[in-house]
Amino acid sequence: MSADADAGAPGSLRSLAAAAWKFRWLVELEAEARFARLAQRLEQIGAGREMVDLARRCSQDERRHAGLCAELATGYGESVPREFSPRLREIAPRGLLLRGQVLYEVVASCCITETESMGVLTALLEAVRSPRLRQVLHELARDEVRHSRLGWAHLAAEYAQGTTAFLGPLVPAMLEGSVGPELFTRGSPDDEDEGLLEHGVLTRRRKLEVFRGTLEEVVFPGLDRFGVDTAPARAWLTDKLHAPTR
Ligand SMILES: [Fe+2]
Ligand SMILES: [Fe+2]
Repeated sequence: MSADADAGAPGSLRSLAAAAWKFRWLVELEAEARFARLAQRLEQIGAGREMVDLARRCSQDERRHAGLCAELATGYGESVPREFSPRLREIAPRGLLLRGQVLYEVVASCCITETESMGVLTALLEAVRSPRLRQVLHELARDEVRHSRLGWAHLAAEYAQGTTAFLGPLVPAMLEGSVGPELFTRGSPDDEDEGLLEHGVLTRRRKLEVFRGTLEEVVFPGLDRFGVDTAPARAWLTDKLHAPTR
């Protein structure tokens, strides 16, 4: 990375930024593998050609994103392996048929995670001034919108067949899997340092605001629209926000 994003940053901010961009590198590699597997599975369940091709394209985007995140992490002083294959977990609960597994995974990865990712990128783009970092954030945001749309399009198609209602009670587990438990705890002074924003990292407080706002304004209304009861997910969020750890 060019030095313009990290010039003069205090060591603690630099190391938090380095760790955050390295973590994103790993998340992007996992997304690459997940979309490649989803493309195969969408094909197996007879999803349209367009959807399968879109999942393949998403996988390629995520590989490119991993490269961008590695570049930034390296610029902040992290070492990132040139080659790394993450182990891809099954996230859907056991007992679902393949079609249900695919819908679970698409909703968790695209409708929730990719939509949340858009919320984070939008918030960062309001704050970041470094030209190179803005360029990277724009590139990520442009693609993540498409990744999120894949999820909503598949959910809409399954809703048209009447097969989305089973997801309602499963959404809290998707949400639980989409964030680390620390999101709901108070951050250290470094985690709350507004200077992080300039390095493409949200403070803990802003991260939680974005997470909550995106769920309430985009994800929950979208799920409701396509026949997924969000009452259990809304109760999960209320519990998390009022947990004694805050
Ligand atoms: Fe990505
Ligand atoms: Fe993505």
